[in-house]
Amino acid sequence: MPAATDTAIVPGVSPQVYDQRDFERISQMIRREAGIVLGNNKRMLAYSRIAPLVRRSGRQTFKEYLDLIENDGAEQTRAIASLTTNHTYFNREPHHFEHFTKNVRPGLIAQAQRGETVRIWSAGCSSGEEIYTLLMVLLGEDRNEGRQLSKRKIVALASDLAEHAVRAAADAVYPAEALSKLPPVLRENWSVAVADTEATSLGISPDIKQMVRFRQLNLLRPWPFGSLFDLIFCRNVMIYFDGPTKEQLVLNFARQLKPGAHLYIGHSERVSGPATELLEPVGTTIYRRKAA
Ligand SMILES: C[S@@+](CC[C@H](N)C(=O)[O-])C[C@H]1O[C@@H](n2cnc3c(N)ncnc32)[C@H](O)[C@@H]1O
Repeated sequence: MPAATDTAIVPGVSPQVYDQRDFERISQMIRREAGIVLGNNKRMLAYSRIAPLVRRSGRQTFKEYLDLIENDGAEQTRAIASLTTNHTYFNREPHHFEHFTKNVRPGLIAQAQRGETVRIWSAGCSSGEEIYTLLMVLLGEDRNEGRQLSKRKIVALASDLAEHAVRAAADAVYPAEALSKLPPVLRENWSVAVADTEATSLGISPDIKQMVRFRQLNLLRPWPFGSLFDLIFCRNVMIYFDGPTKEQLVLNFARQLKPGAHLYIGHSERVSGPATELLEPVGTTIYRRKAA
């Protein structure tokens, strides 16, 4: 008889605790609920992310845990969140912020100064580095002008499927080292020392924090928006989705943008399918909503 580890799909883990069928149930669930495709090479990853939840629930095997979450929505939400990849950092893909500064920012500032509401969405914001980079760039290098601008009607929405990520975004406290990726003048203008730490953490300035609304939101479910956006960032989110899900999502983004408004997506992502009728490429992974 082979040793238990010979048939294990994760080295050192008994198939009685976690087997191929368990992995398939996990990958079907995350695909159905969040659109995320987990290939067979992610069996170990799924094990390492879910195992702490199995232990915490007091269950002995993945099968027992997966049976449990079929009837426990809150636990299922936790399991799904634990399977998301939340890697992000300040000033990621800087060419987007350069394009934004040159081509989009002046129009948004003029709009805000006319007293018109400006709506911005970071969809799949993870722990907030993306929306805070964007708002720092928007408020800019002149602190006084930036402060005036922050009091205008600029509404930034930061949403993510994973509640732990949204909480971290709302906390807005980061290792000082993480902010070193930002241009120094923006970091100095728009970050603040955090009390009770030994200067190893920095917070995002209240001027910026008050501009952001945080929301746990699954991009695959209906969106609760009454108004169109002036700008959407959805970067490095769709890479985990299958083709039809990506096409439907970019179509939904296109429909959620005002004519002339911009969509920025991640470096390995592309707009394809029916959305190409509505969006014209204006830079690398940058698209503009065509006039109606
Ligand atoms: C790799 S992070 C990208 C963060 C940031 N946009 C960036 O580019 O640095 C991907 C994020 O997408 C979120 N996500 C994955 N599937 C989602 C879904 N169906 N709805 C909303 N957010 C989702 C994950 O929770 C994760 O925080």
